[in-house]
Amino acid sequence: MTVTPAAATPIVRLENVGKRYGKVVSLKEVTLEIGPNEIVGLIGDNGAGKSTLIKVLTGVEPPTSGALYVRGQRIDASSYSVKEAHKLRIETVYQDSSLGEKQPLWRNFFVGRPITNRFGFIDVKAEKRIAEAIMRSTIGFRGVGLDVDTPVSRLSGGERQGVAIGRAMHFDSDLIVLDEPTVALALKEVQKVLDFIRSIKAGGRSCIYIEHNIHHVHEVCDRLVVLDRGEIALDAPTSSMTYQELADFLMSLHHRRPAAATH
Ligand SMILES: Nc1ncnc2c1ncn2[C@@H]1O[C@H](COP(=O)(O)OP(=O)(O)O)[C@@H](O)[C@H]1O
Ligand SMILES: [Mg+2]
Repeated sequence: MTVTPAAATPIVRLENVGKRYGKVVSLKEVTLEIGPNEIVGLIGDNGAGKSTLIKVLTGVEPPTSGALYVRGQRIDASSYSVKEAHKLRIETVYQDSSLGEKQPLWRNFFVGRPITNRFGFIDVKAEKRIAEAIMRSTIGFRGVGLDVDTPVSRLSGGERQGVAIGRAMHFDSDLIVLDEPTVALALKEVQKVLDFIRSIKAGGRSCIYIEHNIHHVHEVCDRLVVLDRGEIALDAPTSSMTYQELADFLMSLHHRRPAAATH
């Protein structure tokens, strides 16, 4: 376990969280804390339970067992939802992009959290203006045939990721969860995501970064958490391990596994 100063209440705490889908056990008794201003890399093979953990944490799926705390408050699983998580300033960029395909870009920034005028109507002008500002500043779109009215279905993988990340930035969340954000990206776009994670750190916020490329994880994360078949196999400060030690550790997990279980 990582020692957090007594004064710093973690932003989130999972306590003995289990999650099963029918007979499939996705998470077993997972206990994990994310502290203030901490960048935590979440690593593990396909099927290790990373996305499931995130879904429980961010209100997409209720856990089968265990408890969830946000800033020390126990969360009632029956009323927790993505919307509630947003209210608690927890934002997620999902692996399977959560954008509305047919919606224009600008609408995607404000799903579930519209800007309304004093009569309670959606303020389209304000939403478009802010969407444009986010695109220019955060994402760095340079308008090659793209504007706020472009439907999401016309965007590349990297551009979609940019929209989701821009949204997380705009809402100034305390905890931003990125589930394999670089998976479909070109090298230059990957650098943007890494810069974005550094800006989360510099802004005093926290991040859970799920990533297959452990070079990236080792480079930008304060702490490393490895999930293996639904259980935490490692939770350590990045400074306590070289990149090679991390790579060797992951390899040793792999070798412990019966061949039939690898797919
Ligand atoms: N909705 C679901 N229904 C049934 N099984 C699921 C569902 N979601 C995930 N699983 C299973 O849970 C395990 C963990 O999946 P996941 O959390 O997506 O892993 P990861 O993100 O680490 O690749 C896998 O065995 C997967 O098949
Ligand atoms: Mg996943």
